[in-house]
Amino acid sequence: MASELLVIDGLSKTFSAPAGDVIALSNIRLQVRKGEFITIIGPSGCGKSTLLKIVAGLDTRYTGTVLLNGKPIEGPSIEKGFIFQEPRLFPWLTVEKNIAANLSLKNPQVRQRVNELIELVRLQGFEKSYPRELSGGMAQRVSIARALLRNPDVLLLDEPFGALDAFTRTHMQEVLLDIWQRNGTTMLFVTHDLDEAVFLGERVVIMNPRPGHIRSVLPVDLPFPRKRSGTAFQEMRRLVLNEFEKVEEPLYDVGGGI
Ligand SMILES: Nc1ncnc2c1ncn2[C@@H]1O[C@H](COP(=O)(O)OP(=O)(O)OP(=O)(O)O)[C@@H](O)[C@H]1O
Ligand SMILES: [Mg+2]
Repeated sequence: MASELLVIDGLSKTFSAPAGDVIALSNIRLQVRKGEFITIIGPSGCGKSTLLKIVAGLDTRYTGTVLLNGKPIEGPSIEKGFIFQEPRLFPWLTVEKNIAANLSLKNPQVRQRVNELIELVRLQGFEKSYPRELSGGMAQRVSIARALLRNPDVLLLDEPFGALDAFTRTHMQEVLLDIWQRNGTTMLFVTHDLDEAVFLGERVVIMNPRPGHIRSVLPVDLPFPRKRSGTAFQEMRRLVLNEFEKVEEPLYDVGGGI
């Protein structure tokens, strides 16, 4: 237990809507080691964003246990960095000011940290650029740097590369792996993309909807850097795909019997 950074047990979340209640998450159980790279994959509406928002402390109305470093999550804090699908940068601020967020670059410690991060996400030379001058991949690198500013324990990424073209996406996956290997930050990465999930994750969490639940957790025992064209990778990809194609036992007894 000592090395578990995140412990989720019996987590459920229901949204009440005029058309009826929606069980977004049902009895989620997951433990994440410090430094682990977890990818979460599942069809639209299976509760991936809901789960990430709860871990981020952006939604505190749930039942069950969610502990980060042994403590219940009570709201957003510097231990958690969140990255959305779109970069959400301030258009009127330069790259370095976007990364520093509300801290002053006149502070030598902030200056040094921002310089380190610019190097980490490989944006040297673009410190004084504005978001409109950046490509989608570069803008997303700025948002990753900003999320890392206060050295969070965990980065929560909700389809961060979903809006990028295939080339930029592959490149950004490598950038993220490089950051993970150099920084050791725990990653919880949501994606719709099977290749991405297998390429990045040390474990792939497979979710299903109605109600949103974890169907299985598959370890990906392949060394980094992984080769997409390799047999072992393709085999792993097939395994994950099979999980989706299997017919699932009903979660609840709907009564009636045979
Ligand atoms: N604020 C809300 N009010 C009511 N229902 C909601 C709300 N947010 C999410 N839901 C419902 O909860 C379920 C899970 O939504 P969630 O956004 O977590 O899914 P997701 O797996 O992230 O989907 P996607 O892949 O499309 O992003 C869905 O049925 C959704 O309609
Ligand atoms: Mg979502």
